[in-house]
Amino acid sequence: MDVILIGYGRMGREIERVLVDRGHRCVARVDPRADGADARSLDEIPGAGANAGRTAARTPADCAIEFAHSEGVVDNARWYGAHGIPAVVGTTGWEAERESVRRIVEEAGSGYLWGANFSVGANLFFALVEAAGVLLHRFEDYDAMMLETHHRHKKDSPSGTALEAARRLLEVYRRKSDIVTDALQRPIEPHELHVASVRGGSVPGIHELTFDSPFDSITIRHSARTRAGFALGSVLAAEWLAGRSGFFSVDDFFADRLKGQGEV
Ligand SMILES: NC(=O)c1ccc[n+]([C@@H]2O[C@H](COP(=O)([O-])OP(=O)(O)OC[C@H]3O[C@@H](n4cnc5c(N)ncnc54)[C@H](O)[C@@H]3O)[C@@H](O)[C@H]2O)c1
Repeated sequence: MDVILIGYGRMGREIERVLVDRGHRCVARVDPRADGADARSLDEIPGAGANAGRTAARTPADCAIEFAHSEGVVDNARWYGAHGIPAVVGTTGWEAERESVRRIVEEAGSGYLWGANFSVGANLFFALVEAAGVLLHRFEDYDAMMLETHHRHKKDSPSGTALEAARRLLEVYRRKSDIVTDALQRPIEPHELHVASVRGGSVPGIHELTFDSPFDSITIRHSARTRAGFALGSVLAAEWLAGRSGFFSVDDFFADRLKGQGEV
């Protein structure tokens, strides 16, 4: 595939490496600031002027992969739609615009796949959390809790990944209904799931779900080593999106893979 990268920061560079490894071509790197970018905006890409979508069916690439900043997500979605280019979007922090983007994509009839965590391992972790929740729900001796650890620069807590894992657990582990993220100055209620965060050092991200009983303890742990896992997941998602139209989330892609339809 010929791919346009939108955002040439830490993730964009990692994705470029994975694209090349998998035999794809990076035909443009779009970033208003980054060194090494060859276009400052999408409209600077040759053959992709502001009116190109209306006046000529120019498609300067087979796919776009966007890991940039949330402010650009809506305008970029219009551009992908106008040019008929499927897009994989890993940029986070645009929950409020999700429905507008969905409408843009549906009106354009293009393909769009977004996700807050493209790591194959993290998505396997989510699947294991759900499976464990189904099992452990039946054993009242076991109580559940979650802990996540990240490097000292991380701005938000708990991580989006921890919240997603907690949300998925609560769907199947019906004895708990509420997520509590604060430091507790009281005993926790049985229906509350405590999701705690620790910050420090350079840890790329550790997520642990523990089921604890008076007799023993079971922990499921995902520990990221590098950003390469996110990058690989986004490229696999782009390969999956080719030839599909619609507004997808990374869950649709991994659910398909976990059903055994293709290799991860
Ligand atoms: N979904 C996932 O699996 C996953 C994993 C890691 C990071 N992320 C998210 O991806 C995004 C990028 O992460 P990063 O670590 O590469 O950040 P980064 O700050 O290293 O790089 C982001 C780059 O995007 C550029 N940019 C900003 N606005 C742009 C626009 N409108 N068009 C093109 N480029 C633009 C910036 O100049 C910067 O170079 C963040 O939102 C981050 O939360 C998602």
